[in-house]
Amino acid sequence: MNADPTHLPQILPTKPAPSAATRRDRAQGRLVWLLLGLTLVPALAGMVRLFSLATGVSLLPGSERFFAAPVPVTIHIIGSLLFLGGGAFQFVDALRRRYPRWHKMGGRVFVGAGLASALSGLWMNQFYALPAHDGVALYLMRLAFGAGMAALLLAGLVRAMQRRFPAHRGHMLRSYAIGMGAGTQVLTTIPLAMLGLADEPGPRAVAMGAGWIINLLVVELILRRHQRRPAPVGAMA
Ligand code: HEM
Repeated sequence: MNADPTHLPQILPTKPAPSAATRRDRAQGRLVWLLLGLTLVPALAGMVRLFSLATGVSLLPGSERFFAAPVPVTIHIIGSLLFLGGGAFQFVDALRRRYPRWHKMGGRVFVGAGLASALSGLWMNQFYALPAHDGVALYLMRLAFGAGMAALLLAGLVRAMQRRFPAHRGHMLRSYAIGMGAGTQVLTTIPLAMLGLADEPGPRAVAMGAGWIINLLVVELILRRHQRRPAPVGAMA
């Protein structure tokens, strides 16, 4: 009798290797978890802020601007969280193929929430008495990225209506990358806190800017890979 275990597969049924489409679906499933994980800290910060505004309890120092004008920050937090949380599912090919109506309905919520987030962010950038550590460079970056996010969302919407789906996908991914800056900035600002530089306007602007730039570079890589691969049967973009 041959005791060599390498002979066993001849008797046992072998599991077929997953197809390229299955592997892609699994990778996108993991990406959703990653995006939801990145959303976690801004989501918690936002909920603490909303709780503080609803109860009138000032949980953090320097909250006067939020109490003086609570509407923009409330719109900003709710819009941002709908945009980031819901948006993570909009990019999953398998969900879009299986539930195209949900993708359309979710897309309207995504665009509305994203616009609410970007426009209220721009409003706060302009009219709140921002803390000194936010500095001019961060003010200018918020102006550029906030306006860019709103413009990309509108351009993405127009491209979808024109059924120009590859361009639609690109614009939506880029706008999401800007919004997700809030999540990546949690990571890029950790070294500042460790070095005691969290309140220095220059290093803070670099760390915040890095969050947006890293996300946009990742999206460009994804889009390039997507362009090179053959379109799956029935895919929209
Ligand atoms: C979509 C992702 C975003 C999330 C999750 C997010 C989250 C938040 C949260 C939770 C706050 C409240 C901070 C606090 O309570 O201290 C806030 C404030 C703010 N956000 Fe966003 N934000 C996002 C996108 C943006 C964008 C694109 C801009 C650019 C215009 C922006 C500009 C601002 C400004 C100016 C403030 C006020 C900061 C302060 O007064 O200290 N945000 N954001």
